[in-house]
Amino acid sequence: MIIGVPKETFPGERRVALVPAVLPTLSKAGFQVLVEPGAGSAAGFPDSAYEEKGGEIAPSRADLFGSAGLILQVRALGANPVAGKADAALVRAGQAVIALCDPLSVPEAVREPAENGVTVFSLELLPRITRAQSMDVLSSMATVAGYKAVLLAAAELPRMFPLLMTAAGTVFPARVFVVGAGVAGLMAIATARRLGAVVEAYDVRAAVKEQVESLGAKFVELPLPAESGEGEGGYAKALDEEFYRRQRETMSRVVAGSDVVITTAQVPGKKAPLLITGEMVAGMGPGSVIVDLAAEQGGNCELTRAGETVVVHGVTVLGPANLPATVPYHASQMYAKNAAAFLLHLVKDGNLLLDPEDEITRETLVAHGGDVVHPRVRAALGLPAEPASREGSS
Ligand code: NAI
Repeated sequence: MIIGVPKETFPGERRVALVPAVLPTLSKAGFQVLVEPGAGSAAGFPDSAYEEKGGEIAPSRADLFGSAGLILQVRALGANPVAGKADAALVRAGQAVIALCDPLSVPEAVREPAENGVTVFSLELLPRITRAQSMDVLSSMATVAGYKAVLLAAAELPRMFPLLMTAAGTVFPARVFVVGAGVAGLMAIATARRLGAVVEAYDVRAAVKEQVESLGAKFVELPLPAESGEGEGGYAKALDEEFYRRQRETMSRVVAGSDVVITTAQVPGKKAPLLITGEMVAGMGPGSVIVDLAAEQGGNCELTRAGETVVVHGVTVLGPANLPATVPYHASQMYAKNAAAFLLHLVKDGNLLLDPEDEITRETLVAHGGDVVHPRVRAALGLPAEPASREGSS
């Protein structure tokens, strides 16, 4: 089985799907790795490093698509909707594509490759179960984003983060409030603590209180209904608008007292809950900073504009998009480790094994056998629940 690793084409994308260090594990499992020239260079992995680890450099992108049985990317189809279109002419029936494909937000992008007989796996759909932890690219990328969010805030803030007692007087530590203590939020808490900030955090899932405290932050107790915010698979569930209204009301005092607010609140498959209104922003001190990691899901802050920085009421609101691409070396290393674990799970004796009984395979398989096979993607496309025929393996 030849794995092809193309250069990413999404604007600003600097990650690469495989790094040289994972090649030996893959060759031991019988894979050959073919890399597009320069695929890893923006992330700090020159072609020579792939060759040293047993990879081969393809003469061109077209050759790579022509020879590989399996294409491994960071962003494909719906996750690269404009530049990625050029690859439609290169993929072929029987080939498999494994990548972040954003099939629930941009389901139309899956239709054509599905009809052309391409097998598509979308890594966003990996279930958050213990067995899939080593493959969970969303968690790895959220870890990178949580870290970078704090650095962006620190760079924007007109204050320093740590407490300093110097001959030039005392500098009081920055107060950071993290809303949503999932993967990105916990990493943001840890990073802000390492820089010396005083950190508070809130999450609707009461279970995270202990994790927040173990990182040296204070868990903010809000007088909200005791209803559990915990949904399936360790994710939050959507709560009603009355809950969010009460949350905004009770959180505004903490927001007003913070120099930095980092929001990461999300409910899978839903628009991000609106937790910080323009009025709450106006209540913050001048020079304060909000980093809204949910910007691409509509934002947790009313004033956020995805991919932009706005200054309103003297408060800087950042809505960064694709933060993992700004830390491409380690983001690629983590993505590659996850992707390699997924490949090893999926391929037995050099063949893709599509076991519909296996939750990891079933949840990530979006297109196969000439059809879109994933029920949620089918629903998003307005297709009947079951495809006409469903094959077991190829
Ligand atoms: P996650 O699901 O691990 O964490 C989200 C947390 O928000 C959960 O702990 C959940 O309980 C909490 N939450 C939900 N509703 C809440 C509410 N009303 N109040 C307080 N907390 C609430 O998700 P993860 O992986 O940490 O991602 C967080 C966000 O960061 C997502 O929106 C994700 O798309 C985004 N992200 C952004 C990136 C960027 O470059 N901008 C890169 C990676 C992730």
